[in-house]
Amino acid sequence: MQLDLFSHVAAAYADAKVCLDNETLYSEVSRRAGLSNDELNARTPIGEAGALRSVVKRKIRWHQQELKAMGVITRHERGIWGLTEKVTEDLDRAKSGVKLVAFSTDLGVAVWGACRDVFGGLEQQIALCVTSPPYPLRIPRAYGNPSESEYTDFICRSFEPIIKNLMPGASVCINLSNDIFLPGVPARSLYLERLTIALCDRFGLYKMDMIPWVNLSKPPAPIAWASKKRVQLNTGYEPVLWLTNDPHKVRSNNRRVLEEHSERHKALLARGGEQRTAEYGDGAYKLRPGSFGGMTEGRIPKNVLMRGHVCRDGAQYKEDAERLGLPSHGAAFPLAIPDFLIRFLSEPEDLVVDPFGGTIKVGMAAERLGRRWMVSEWILQYIRASAERFRIFPGYWLNPMMAAM
Ligand SMILES: C[S@@+](CC[C@H](N)C(=O)[O-])C[C@H]1O[C@@H](n2cnc3c(N)ncnc32)[C@H](O)[C@@H]1O
Repeated sequence: MQLDLFSHVAAAYADAKVCLDNETLYSEVSRRAGLSNDELNARTPIGEAGALRSVVKRKIRWHQQELKAMGVITRHERGIWGLTEKVTEDLDRAKSGVKLVAFSTDLGVAVWGACRDVFGGLEQQIALCVTSPPYPLRIPRAYGNPSESEYTDFICRSFEPIIKNLMPGASVCINLSNDIFLPGVPARSLYLERLTIALCDRFGLYKMDMIPWVNLSKPPAPIAWASKKRVQLNTGYEPVLWLTNDPHKVRSNNRRVLEEHSERHKALLARGGEQRTAEYGDGAYKLRPGSFGGMTEGRIPKNVLMRGHVCRDGAQYKEDAERLGLPSHGAAFPLAIPDFLIRFLSEPEDLVVDPFGGTIKVGMAAERLGRRWMVSEWILQYIRASAERFRIFPGYWLNPMMAAM
């Protein structure tokens, strides 16, 4: 068991790619080692004072220190350890100033490089930016995350070249996290509010909406405050901030995203609408015979996106990455999110961009919807694996330097 436990600790850090807090490490290791909760937490008197401690957790921390001594992991903050940079070098991040077309189609182009470098030289008018930037996570992802204190400046700096090129009435949609907590406190950070105000004040943008993307299949979180302390609820949504540079000319059109009428509404239409007279809300709403009887093309969606995480395009990406022996991406959104936003906020042939491309979902949705597209992504392996899904589209070209990977 000694040797097994060591390899389970090492594997837990390797799979997490960057950091793990100790609680997550314990549960990861016990899952891998097949230990029950009782076995993990069984307390035995330890030392002269005979304090009751979990022997297994102690052994796990011991192996953690062995990995530290071997230069495999390093401490990020109290109780949070992760792989050293030397070990995470399997992800190739574009150096400053490097921009290389990774692949393209007749409609779009995916560029390997940092977003400021890639979009800095663009001279075309952009109709829509849909993106999901790295969140200000305390435990960073493999591709790197800015801290909460640097977040507003990081986002503003990244978006500046894009906002400069927005056409009148263009939109910017940013998928963010609502689950950034003050350190050690079950209260949420106000970074979302600060960021929204900064984007509007610094760039003259307007807030059109903060649309919740509701995903009821999200894993339970925040563990510390919902599962353990029980003072918060489990998270079921992420906000999508929608901004525009000109609300009078905004290119959104809900006719492009109409939904089918419900069976109940279809039956009401078939009856010629309401048959009764009634008043609601102190007379604010009045029903008369014939109300809601006019045939319409469809139902205007509510401003809540109910979309699960499962996505065929995402599964295809994972398969491609595995076949090519490349690391997978751990933070993609389902294709349904950019698909809806692109249909709602842009017209065919418009230019749609994503500075934080990841698995190039925005490029894929734009391609399928006949929009032109341009995305940047600074991790070579993500962009290379993503290229495979675009082979079926007209004009596909893969940079031979990428093909050699
Ligand atoms: C949350 S992920 C985006 C996932 C994407 N929406 C998808 O569905 O696949 C953020 C991505 O931004 C990339 N990234 C972070 N900083 C970047 C930068 N300065 N320039 C370009 N890409 C960056 C990361 O490597 C990561 O793949």
